[in-house]
Amino acid sequence: MSNHMDVQKENGYDAWLHYPRSSHAENRPAWCNVIVVTGGDEVLQTAANELQRGLTSMFGQQPKINDVPVDVPFIALGTFKDHPLVAERFSAEEQADVNAEGYRIRGTEMINPAQSASYDAIKGPYVTVAGQTAPGVLYGVFHLLRWLQGRLDGELPLQATSKSSESSDGPFLDVLSNPVNPIRMINHWDNMDGSVERGYAGASIFYENNALTKNMDRLRDYARLLASVGIQSLSINNVNVHQVETELITDKYLSDVARLAAIFRAYGIQIYLSINYASPMQLGGLTTADPLDPGVAEWWRAKAREVYAAVPDLGGFVVKADSENRPGPFSYGRHHADGANMLADALQPYGGRIIWRCFVYDCKQDWRDRKTDRARAAFDYFKPLDGLFRDNVILQIKNGPMDFQVREPVSPLFGALQATQVLLEFQITQEYTGQQRHLCYLVPQWKEVLDFDTYTQGKGSTIKRIVSGSLGSNGSPASPSSTKYTNYGIAAVTNIGADTNWTGHLLAQSNLYGYGRLAWDPELSADEIADEWVRLTFGGYRNRSHTGNSKHLVPAIKKMLLDSWNIYESYTAPLGVGWMVSPDHHYGPDVDGYEYSMWGTYHFADCRGIGVDRTTTTGTGYVGQYCSPQADIYESTETCPDELLLFFHHVPYTHVLHSGQTVIQHIYDTHFEGAERAANLRDTWVSLRDHLDEAIYAQVLERLEHQTEHAQEWRDRINTYFYRKSGIADQKNRPIY
Ligand code: GCU
Repeated sequence: MSNHMDVQKENGYDAWLHYPRSSHAENRPAWCNVIVVTGGDEVLQTAANELQRGLTSMFGQQPKINDVPVDVPFIALGTFKDHPLVAERFSAEEQADVNAEGYRIRGTEMINPAQSASYDAIKGPYVTVAGQTAPGVLYGVFHLLRWLQGRLDGELPLQATSKSSESSDGPFLDVLSNPVNPIRMINHWDNMDGSVERGYAGASIFYENNALTKNMDRLRDYARLLASVGIQSLSINNVNVHQVETELITDKYLSDVARLAAIFRAYGIQIYLSINYASPMQLGGLTTADPLDPGVAEWWRAKAREVYAAVPDLGGFVVKADSENRPGPFSYGRHHADGANMLADALQPYGGRIIWRCFVYDCKQDWRDRKTDRARAAFDYFKPLDGLFRDNVILQIKNGPMDFQVREPVSPLFGALQATQVLLEFQITQEYTGQQRHLCYLVPQWKEVLDFDTYTQGKGSTIKRIVSGSLGSNGSPASPSSTKYTNYGIAAVTNIGADTNWTGHLLAQSNLYGYGRLAWDPELSADEIADEWVRLTFGGYRNRSHTGNSKHLVPAIKKMLLDSWNIYESYTAPLGVGWMVSPDHHYGPDVDGYEYSMWGTYHFADCRGIGVDRTTTTGTGYVGQYCSPQADIYESTETCPDELLLFFHHVPYTHVLHSGQTVIQHIYDTHFEGAERAANLRDTWVSLRDHLDEAIYAQVLERLEHQTEHAQEWRDRINTYFYRKSGIADQKNRPIY
């Protein structure tokens, strides 16, 4: 984003950081003239530079960066402990309310001279952005920039949570914000040959031809996007660690890893490496990778020493073991705590973490075997290990028990683990949700997951409390100083690639933005996040009405986003059953694509009915992994929510849903409506044409045209399949083939 070429802007490269020139630039607040920052901290310098860059872009004048106060209005940036000017603006209690990465922002028209004895030259209005740490200040700066853009649009402040007031004696801006999740992570599934597993936005921005990219500017620009929404952890290679990537922890590549780490460090982001569990054999020439073999443990200790010598602040390792043909402790008759703890001990002296994935299941299942249920697997493997993991081990659990389907229940493993630190794993990349060719704003789906109540420690044992570590093992909030409960949070597989607009579908940028914002504050609503993103992305020159944010654009694009998950769900797999996609690439309808496979992903449709019986009475018993009342709700077709009916039950096509419709008629209706609503998305976009930058308009239109057509393909395939299976006609006699 360093070169502000118009052509780049039109392609969406600047994403939500494009800071359009304000149409009210003459109203530039006086305090935007000077930025005062003290201390040589790299991240603090980043914060000052970002602020300078944003303000310059918005107002067309570059503010000065100064290291001492000046006698004109200014913005002060700094930490409480290193910046006296910052410290004296907040009482001890106000400072204590800020956590390690949180911030306070305060803006007043006049400074009280009594408060600034040491800086009595200051007279005018000034704004302070303060934190305990430099990253906190950086996040505060991005908040201030968002706020300013909202104000300059002539709209209300962007931050509904800000306590802003216009009164002349009180502060005009007064914000306290703390991230709710201690770990806010992005996972890359990038391979060093430049490919991205499940990537839908072009090649890797990290690697090409088995080497590090030469385009460091792009990486820096990515770091800006991530930091602007509060991301501070990043794993930089695929969880499936192939031959070349196995060598990332050797001297062949460690200097490259160190270069990457330096780029992200400047933005407060710590990097992680995915490692190959069998490295001692593949790299070290050992004959085993048995976690209890002393030679193996010693190999990893030596390896950790070498890795941390190169990258002293490496976050740690991400491990996919015994999963989808990856090696792991099972080969040696060991369990996963043995494997994770052995690695954790090796990283412990350096403060490193082991992020151990729970995506473990039998991927060589016999489809004839109706007793084995893949949905049960993570709980069955990991629940018995609860409490056995080291303090620097975190279990990473996918949001659902299967694999990022458009609709799944929440994984019961979250509530079940009560003495183990966990990370929730979301998928921003739209593997099963339209692959960034269809519009699917995922924040509403993630909200449902975070708000789900597991009841495992009584009412209120929600996923968001579990994964933020605020639900202690005894049901009370964990004390912030307890080290046992600091390794919690959310991770997500990114949706970006080398496409100029990062995400292929420009509107899919909202998912990356939304993920970061939600990981920071799970209480934000899907609507608020969409609102922020649309305003930031479509302000200024991208909006041809040139009246700031036009009245048409914001509500119309917001509605497109907010409806899109439901629309996608309605024309694809019905009622929570999932998996009706083409094998391997997972794009497009193929009802029986996975039906006779070894992946454990079935719908069991026959001429009478459809669905998977996962009840405890007649099914696989998966329902029993939930606590009451959730288990009771799912167990009975009377209470099971419609949208998950076929996930939990096998029912006849004539079964009547809570909606009053039969299953078969629901399938027909939702598929006809879904395809129509997809076409409406396109029509809405077309109606916005006059308000939109032309290049932006065209690139999104192309995707929406495709979605419209592809939704019809989905509709006809699904409807025809079920008409042929069931022999039951559509009540409304619409075309089915
Ligand atoms: C899915 C996905 C794979 C990925 C795996 C994982 O199965 O299709 O590409 O490797 O999840 O999360 O490990």
